[in-house]
Amino acid sequence: MESTAAGQPHLVRISEAPIVRESRLAALDSFITPVDRFFVRNHFADVPEVDINDWRLRVDGEVSVPLELDFERIMAMNSRESVVTLECAGNSRSHMRPPAEGISFSHGAVSAAKWRGVPLLAILDAAGVKDGAVEVAFHGSDVGEEEEEGEVFEDLPYVRSLPLNAALSPDNLLAYEMNGAPLTPDHGFPLRLVAPRWYGMASVKWLKRIQVLDRPYDGFFQNRRYVFINEGPEKDIARREPVTTIKVKSNITTPRHGEIIPPGPIVIRGFAWSGNGEVTRVEVSDDAGETWGDAELKGEADVNCWRRWEFPWTAKEPGHFIFMSRATDSTGARQERESPWNFRGYANNAIQSLAVETPGSRAGA
Ligand code: MTE
Repeated sequence: MESTAAGQPHLVRISEAPIVRESRLAALDSFITPVDRFFVRNHFADVPEVDINDWRLRVDGEVSVPLELDFERIMAMNSRESVVTLECAGNSRSHMRPPAEGISFSHGAVSAAKWRGVPLLAILDAAGVKDGAVEVAFHGSDVGEEEEEGEVFEDLPYVRSLPLNAALSPDNLLAYEMNGAPLTPDHGFPLRLVAPRWYGMASVKWLKRIQVLDRPYDGFFQNRRYVFINEGPEKDIARREPVTTIKVKSNITTPRHGEIIPPGPIVIRGFAWSGNGEVTRVEVSDDAGETWGDAELKGEADVNCWRRWEFPWTAKEPGHFIFMSRATDSTGARQERESPWNFRGYANNAIQSLAVETPGSRAGA
């Protein structure tokens, strides 16, 4: 199927097969990210082609009543809309030092959309989760190849599980709409999971099966990918921890890196988010982190989506300035200068910076 991401100027093309796109930071400057600016992360070269008349969602495993639902049936169920920020676990990977392995994302693999769909809980309730269930696995329709340490894994399906308590969160949606329109093929048409607070790998696209399990799911994208391998550049297999919820983070969407700022007041702005608690504070520095001032948090706190922050600023004198932002969440976690290194460069929430100059700053240079 022709990709809808083709020819979209706000998205940086990182890979064609599989399709991987990230947004330019300045293009992320709206609370809801338009679909043509929303990052795309596929693992396999082929985007599933789904005929909606043949498509079914199976719900099976440790359930009292296995279900097979067609699209009409799902559309007839009570639906809900919510704004959720998705961030890929590999976002900001290219800024890890020493370099980490994986798709080379800068800071643009994060976006927010208004999703509409059926609460996952309603479907699990209809099927009746049996005692003894511990996890729920979500199967995508996409299949492909991955390589690890010279070994090629063929015919791999994209499957990810959530612990039962996380799967039962009332916030999880089986989404069929994104920003008021049906999901595009790139974003998982016809149905995807949207699991707020978890890094994006959990939000399985092209969903075809929900499998309730009485033991932990073991699969490539569960135990080989999306695990922290923490011990320096040398891999230490004994220290594998699963990647789960989103760490506190912020970005600066205005101004742009390298911008020449006209004299007079401006507003520095961006977003802050965390999957572990509401964002409680954002601080901004114009001197590369020597001194910090509090930004104003706009709108409502919501652990499922990012929060706009603003910081009015006027240059005290002509010069070069390095802006930084750092966020704190309600657990007390705060962004630091460095994020723990791990082999695949996941969850890099280190403080981001950008440089601007004001007119006259070149004088005497
Ligand atoms: N679901 C399937 N079936 N296949 C995939 O490759 N990629 C995952 C997740 N769901 C993926 C998937 C990852 S790693 C991320 S970050 C999000 O989808 C990206 O969602 P998006 O492409 O809609 O932005």
